[in-house]
Amino acid sequence: MKPRYFHTKVLVTGANGQLGSDLCKVLQHFEVIPLTHRDIEIGDMNSVKQMFNKYKPDTIINTAAYVQVDDCETEQDKAFLINALGARNVAVVAQELGAKLIHISTDYVFGGVGETLVVSRKSGGGKPLPYTEFDTPIPISVYGKSKLAGENFIRHLCPKHFIVRSSGLFGVAGASGKGGNFVETMLRLAKERDELRVVNDQVFSPTYTKDLAGKIAQLIETEYYGIFHITNKGSCSWYEFAKEILKLAGLKAPIIPITSDQYPQKARRPHYSVLHNYHLRLLGLDDMRTWQEALKNYMISKGYIK
Ligand SMILES: NC(=O)c1ccc[n+]([C@@H]2O[C@H](COP(=O)([O-])OP(=O)(O)OC[C@H]3O[C@@H](n4cnc5c(N)ncnc54)[C@H](OP(=O)(O)O)[C@@H]3O)[C@@H](O)[C@H]2O)c1
Repeated sequence: MKPRYFHTKVLVTGANGQLGSDLCKVLQHFEVIPLTHRDIEIGDMNSVKQMFNKYKPDTIINTAAYVQVDDCETEQDKAFLINALGARNVAVVAQELGAKLIHISTDYVFGGVGETLVVSRKSGGGKPLPYTEFDTPIPISVYGKSKLAGENFIRHLCPKHFIVRSSGLFGVAGASGKGGNFVETMLRLAKERDELRVVNDQVFSPTYTKDLAGKIAQLIETEYYGIFHITNKGSCSWYEFAKEILKLAGLKAPIIPITSDQYPQKARRPHYSVLHNYHLRLLGLDDMRTWQEALKNYMISKGYIK
């Protein structure tokens, strides 16, 4: 049984999103103020001031973002307005209130490695190394650039910050900005199509929002400010992820591995964006389970398997 801290107010933006909804569930021992896009527009400083000053939270968790990675390429102004200036607005008012600020970012701040970095990042066997919080981000998409700009505003404007980078989120609510998540898409397509073609040259760490939310709930009670990579353990390509999803669901549709070139998208994605939970490990707090265990738990929660 968790101790109850009703005197601590935690305000969550994007509260009905995939991560936001799991955060609201795991934070029930605090007084939670869940704000949806209807309640607040983070791209508008006045809206942020009005809502944050109304509730005067002790802790703010900003999950709100423009998350449609491909649309960001054609809607660059919107991407920077929400993901960069929106983060700036949140940071300014959080700092004025003296609140702790947890801001969610992404593995897509990485991926733009030049030849020299590729060489220096490879371990002896030529295997790429997961990115730590101490590696320099080089984004390759408008989404990645706008999220990195948001991180920089947070770092410079609000000292009591936790910047949490995660990747490949799946959660029971499904990403509201994307109309579901990869797991649901694969399960649907496996029933509709004779075969699935899935990208096999983008490697990352799939992460269950319930696990991410649980770790954030633990972090906010500390003063371990800084950048944190928080993902489930292990890594895979989207093809390998899809194979595991169908295997667990007992679906037999054949899956064909393809390259990113065979599946053109507006935004470039990193070929390798695996995050190492290095900061957590240094603090003895990295007990994240594997993505396979997390996926199985997700599918049980959704009632797909027993
Ligand atoms: N999904 C992933 O794979 C992934 C991976 C790494 C990092 N992240 C980061 O994780 C965070 C949460 O992602 P998610 O998957 O939970 O996304 P999500 O389900 O789309 O949730 C985002 C929430 O933010 C709200 N929102 C969007 N624009 C807003 C604005 N301008 N002002 C206020 N609220 C706004 C959305 O409301 P409406 O839908 O009503 O607009 C939605 O409730 C984001 O910061 C994202 O960049 C996601």
